[in-house]
Amino acid sequence: MIDFTVNKEGLRHNIEKARENGIIIPTIRQMQNPELIPENIREKLKKTGLWDVDPVNLFRITWKNEPKESGGLFRKSPNVIELPSALTGVKARIFAMVGKWFPTGCHKVGASFGCLAPRLVTGQFDTTVHKAVWPSTGNYCRGGAFNSKLLSCDSIAILPAEMSRERFEWLSKIAGEVIATPGCESNVKEIFDKTWELRQRPDVMIFNQFEEMGNPLWHYNVTGYALKDAFEAIKSEGDRFAGACFTSGSAGTMSAGDYLKEQYPGLKLAVGEALQCSTILDNGFGGHRIEGIGDKHIPWIHNVKNTDMVIDIDDEDSQRLLRLFNTDAGKQYLIKTVGLDAEFVETLSYLGISGIANVLCCIKMAKYYELTEHDIVGTVLTDSAVMYQSRIEELSEMYGDYSETAAELDHNLHILALKDDNMLELGYKDRKRIHNLKYYTWIEQQGRTVEELDALWYDSEGTWDAVHKQAAQLDEYIEAFNREVQKGSLS
Ligand SMILES: Cc1ncc(COP(=O)(O)O)c(C=O)c1O
Repeated sequence: MIDFTVNKEGLRHNIEKARENGIIIPTIRQMQNPELIPENIREKLKKTGLWDVDPVNLFRITWKNEPKESGGLFRKSPNVIELPSALTGVKARIFAMVGKWFPTGCHKVGASFGCLAPRLVTGQFDTTVHKAVWPSTGNYCRGGAFNSKLLSCDSIAILPAEMSRERFEWLSKIAGEVIATPGCESNVKEIFDKTWELRQRPDVMIFNQFEEMGNPLWHYNVTGYALKDAFEAIKSEGDRFAGACFTSGSAGTMSAGDYLKEQYPGLKLAVGEALQCSTILDNGFGGHRIEGIGDKHIPWIHNVKNTDMVIDIDDEDSQRLLRLFNTDAGKQYLIKTVGLDAEFVETLSYLGISGIANVLCCIKMAKYYELTEHDIVGTVLTDSAVMYQSRIEELSEMYGDYSETAAELDHNLHILALKDDNMLELGYKDRKRIHNLKYYTWIEQQGRTVEELDALWYDSEGTWDAVHKQAAQLDEYIEAFNREVQKGSLS
């Protein structure tokens, strides 16, 4: 459960700071339904760029932004792309919600909001005392640093040294401090160690996305809700919402699946990971190249008991497709040989590396369950290829120029030839095995108790369900906070 204990002094400081800086905080309901956002905020948004460091951009933490670099308002249903069968090779309809149109170009700005907001509006985090620490493999700390700046909080970003150059360059402009820890994507233990070091300081507060319940609260209520809207907007008569697949970093996005399983009881929920770091599939470990996911442990906030399937994706597949979707030769092949619409092909740059892996999970699920044209599988594109231009250049340096022949090979080998291998439909015992792995990270290393761990397995109502429902309580605190801020500025 999220702790809403109020620290009066901290709250007073935060309200004063918000007043000074003209900060109004959006509610979860507004993120679900941006039509509830008041007119004066909309007017400001019309003059604000998507990535501008302006508090009004907090209102763009929603899947329903108009796809514009500047001045955009909101759409009725989320930004979505649907991947045609000629590309995927399966009959099932596959759609993906687009993360590129969040500020920072990634939906993790929402997860970090979910973690920071409860502590800010209760005064537990005091903006005059604390720095917000954002440990992450990249996008979460970008989102956290961005939100911190919008909310006038100091921040410290921690991420592995081998993450892409784009992430470091951008962070250095936004975060108060950037700390690079040894290793790559899957070196989360090194990040955790750094946070333990920082925890000793009285002026820092750690927002660990792997254990903060604000992360699943946000995804269940905002991403889950948006996926439902997206499905309802694109479905034809007789279509089923058959499945949802999300690769897991913190497993925050997986909570959107918890919402969908309640709304569509037949829906199968799959978690994806890199085959090169197969922790969920077979307790495996290793480095891999699907940036943002797969960290050699099971996140505290992964509701494993509600996960129906694990699907492993070879990181070579996602690297190859990054080139197919983002080079002229690749696009020409898709247009001329596969017959895809040229405008659609341009939207394939909305898929970042983990977005590609998410789509591949959907394809593998469709193959496994032999889904038909009436089955729809949904996923998200956490970030876009914009974040990986340096990776695309590196691939060109390694393999030389791309060609239409290479594109045809890549499409055939890395999409059409995908099989239902390296995946597992999870029975009770399989889920329990995965859940049990949490012990080694969270009890042995991170100070959690066995009672808390057991509660995540045996007491869904008191843990997962209770957190999901706390969105209403969070909104009440946010509204009260905003009222106090506005009172002062009106008087
Ligand atoms: C690019 C990318 N993809 C996927 C994920 C995984 O999302 P989640 O942490 O919600 O599991 C992340 C998380 O940081 C990410 O940055």
